Amino acid sequence: MEVIIFENESLVAKRAASMFVDLLTAKPSAVLGLATGSTPIKTYQELIAKFNDGEVSFKDVSTFNLDEYVGLKSKDKQSYQYFMREQLFDSIDVQIENTHFPVCVDAKNNQEMAEDYEAKIAEKKGIDLQLLGIGHNGHIGFNEPSSSLSSRTRLKTLTHSTLKANSRLFKEGEVQPTMAMTMGIGTIMDAKEILLVATGKDKAQAVRDTIEGAVSASCPASILQMHPSVTVLLDKHSASNLENTEYYQRVADQVKQLR
Ligand code: GLP
Repeated sequence: MEVIIFENESLVAKRAASMFVDLLTAKPSAVLGLATGSTPIKTYQELIAKFNDGEVSFKDVSTFNLDEYVGLKSKDKQSYQYFMREQLFDSIDVQIENTHFPVCVDAKNNQEMAEDYEAKIAEKKGIDLQLLGIGHNGHIGFNEPSSSLSSRTRLKTLTHSTLKANSRLFKEGEVQPTMAMTMGIGTIMDAKEILLVATGKDKAQAVRDTIEGAVSASCPASILQMHPSVTVLLDKHSASNLENTEYYQRVADQVKQLR
């Protein structure tokens, strides 16, 4: 696990975007795993800027998003499909038919939809680079604490803390779904490379549990300790509970010299 701590969230986003650009330069038809939430928005803005500058193209890319609320359709403003079009897809040259979500409008056919999503990822020979944010309780995607660490795409009931944290994004009168379809932790761990971004003091405990805590389903992101190629990009606030920052800094400096 490579942990890199930056002065602010803009620098986090710049580094995250440059990792995507490096991958797409080497492999223009890469399969990208994408995330929603507020944290990746700045990364997406950086990617749009790089696309506008002609530094990168997404025309041969396939994307798979981590999760989607049960019951919401693509046109629903609170759906993650809508979010991704607004925050990224409408501003780049990705072919919309190459973008995928674990859609589950009717919870009754969730098993079928979940298997279909896994099959689509497998058809593309897996995800090259998976972007992750992190929930306050250490969730990745919508894999809440107590999720099986080897789970595949499936339906999850959201915890009160997640519902509360995400309620800020729902306007009065809008129904907030209490279930979501999410890539499983096993699905995420199959990605060839993983990039976790976290910013803000409110993520400091989850970040600490992820990097320096025991591997446990109580903090689903802690499973990333078992993945061979994970980069964690943090601002100084989200890194503020870490004990070994001096060591991470030294490693990052040495890696920079070697590249
Ligand atoms: C949601 C998403 C996660 C995301 C988390 C944190 O629950 N399912 O993928 O990481 O929110 O979001 P934010 O970046 O807004 O804190």
